[in-house]
Amino acid sequence: MDQRELELLLAGLPIRAARYFPTLGSTNDVAARWAAAGAPDLALVAADEQTAGRGRLQRRWLTPPGAALAFSVILRPGGQEDILRYTALGALAVCEAVNQALPAVTPALIKWPNDVLANRRKLAGVLAEAHWRGEVLQAVILGVGVNVARAAVPAEAEVSFPATCVEDALEAPVDRWGLLHAILEQIIAWRARLAETAFLQAWSARLAFRGEWVQAIWDDQPPLAGQVLGLDDAGRLRLRARSGEIHTLQGGELRLRPAATP
Ligand code: BTN
Repeated sequence: MDQRELELLLAGLPIRAARYFPTLGSTNDVAARWAAAGAPDLALVAADEQTAGRGRLQRRWLTPPGAALAFSVILRPGGQEDILRYTALGALAVCEAVNQALPAVTPALIKWPNDVLANRRKLAGVLAEAHWRGEVLQAVILGVGVNVARAAVPAEAEVSFPATCVEDALEAPVDRWGLLHAILEQIIAWRARLAETAFLQAWSARLAFRGEWVQAIWDDQPPLAGQVLGLDDAGRLRLRARSGEIHTLQGGELRLRPAATP
């Protein structure tokens, strides 16, 4: 891949500008600088390798060369200011793109709020970052990292949730840049429908652990055990605790882990 090939790949898509880097620190950081300098809506930054990839909760995100997708889309919001929806947009887009090839009985699913799982292992993560000027949302940087080949899968000791890659889920080699194209198609299609009920329904249909018991962990709170009920109208996660009490989780510093049924 190079700049010219990326532009050819994107020719049929309404991506307004694109920059390719063989290596960089973080596509989200480069995209944020570009956004501040006036990048248009639907501008793309893609890299083969990241040396300072970032995940949620200040975690590192590994992107070795030749094995992963790491890209950020600059979105100029038109009315929709809910960062949770943008996070879901990235996760849903990866799910839908990967599920075009996965058997329907074992689809990729969203571990709320931002991870994509296959076979209960993480294959992609989304980092959506809002950039404000005063009270006006200037841009959302939608960063997506996908483990495509095994070389992108971090060692078990390095991650807090088991990881996998698209090639292992599909049990077949994957055309990385074809997958990028498919994910971008999904981002573009669903972005136009972010405020619709259909978006919430599609997101909800891909929710992992539905009906299962999970532990919701906040940094400074005791873990909350609950059964996953689904999403509310705002896309917040609804859990039923053992007491029967319903908790609605906002996101933020939350981590979800499967838990034994009580
Ligand atoms: C997570 O799982 O916590 C989110 C991971 C997001 C990683 C992607 S890779 C492209 C973009 N650039 C970054 O530095 N992070 C995101």
